[in-house]
Amino acid sequence: MEFDVDRIRKDFPILATQMNGRQLVYLDSAATSQKPRQVINAVARHYRKLNANIHRGIYKLSEEATAEYVASKEAVARFIHAKSYRSIVYFRSTTEAINAVARAWGDANTGSGDRVLITEMEHHSNIVPWQMLAKRKGAHLDYVGLRDGSELDLEDYKSKLLLKPKIVAVTHVSNVLGTINDVKEITRMAHEAGASVLVDGAQSVPHMPVDVSGMDADFVAFSGHKMLGPSGIGVLYGKEDVLEGMEPFHGGGDMIRSVDFQESTWNELPWKFEAGTQNMEGAAGLAAAVRYLKRLGMESVREHEKKITLYALEALADEHVTAFGLGRDRIEERAGVISFDVKGVHAHDVAQVFDSEGIAIRSGHHCAMPLVTRVLGEPAVPRMSFYVYTKEQEIDSAIAAIRKAREVMKLSS
Ligand SMILES: Cc1ncc(COP(=O)(O)O)c(C=O)c1O
Repeated sequence: MEFDVDRIRKDFPILATQMNGRQLVYLDSAATSQKPRQVINAVARHYRKLNANIHRGIYKLSEEATAEYVASKEAVARFIHAKSYRSIVYFRSTTEAINAVARAWGDANTGSGDRVLITEMEHHSNIVPWQMLAKRKGAHLDYVGLRDGSELDLEDYKSKLLLKPKIVAVTHVSNVLGTINDVKEITRMAHEAGASVLVDGAQSVPHMPVDVSGMDADFVAFSGHKMLGPSGIGVLYGKEDVLEGMEPFHGGGDMIRSVDFQESTWNELPWKFEAGTQNMEGAAGLAAAVRYLKRLGMESVREHEKKITLYALEALADEHVTAFGLGRDRIEERAGVISFDVKGVHAHDVAQVFDSEGIAIRSGHHCAMPLVTRVLGEPAVPRMSFYVYTKEQEIDSAIAAIRKAREVMKLSS
């Protein structure tokens, strides 16, 4: 099937709106994606037709709401090739999912003097929970360094594994560099060294085929809002036996089997980790997002983004604009995220000129301060990021905005 971007764009009502008097050009999908009407409708349909608290009612509407919720987990499990929906826990976001692992798994499995291994290209979501764990437990937090500020240094990784970390937590795709890490090999090496593995899939699951069973990581976390779904719902995939062996993260309603005055016992998977009333409309919307992406085909989504990314990298090179991360010759290892530097123009000025042209990009440290400030040595960088609705003409608009930013700066200096 041909990847018909113009047709896809018709599904996204927001893309027809204006920003600053111009047709919106949305190049900030790494921050959050836009939503197709199929997802918007699924959320509305939940409220219109299926709104009742799940698990609790013995009336038909509640049973139907529960069935919709379970079906959402089954759809997500199939989407990432998990063996069963028992491995799929819903949290608010990637951030909450990683915090859950750092608390519930980390507290039980790390002690004083133990090591936790992460990398210099992590988002704050995959740094701060581990720093907090290390503080609570008196553990050491080690970092895998980067080569040329672009990719993980696997020799450094090997040497850090010799320190026998309890867990390796690594991003599948960097939200700043767009680098795709070989998480299957990283996981294999970690397991060989006796470490568990958490993969931050926030920037990979929405954009490429991801097979959590093949990858063999113990945990994978990702967010609904970055994959065409609603915000406020995120996924923690965990291997069943690993989740079985863990204590819950939150306590409250529905996560229990029985409660007495002093003691409680836990519900079965995945409910043991979901305390209190859940984001039921979010689950309905996420299932619709998964259906939408499946219909496009994740191979095709990846191919489209590769094409757009290559087009943008070539256009930036023609403008002599530095793009961070791997070069065009390594496009197979690059996702649709480009942070760049327009020489002589501050990142925020670039973003402001883009804004005046109706183009939404992000500028800053992108919640990866150690990477941006320490590794790249920049206070802030502008970033463009792409998705299923991104067209080449939008990259042309971005290039025109870069020229304008240079002009404006020349005039004001
Ligand atoms: C690589 C990566 N990890 C984690 C997150 C956090 O996602 P959320 O804010 O949905 O928890 C992001 C969001 O930008 C990200 O890009």
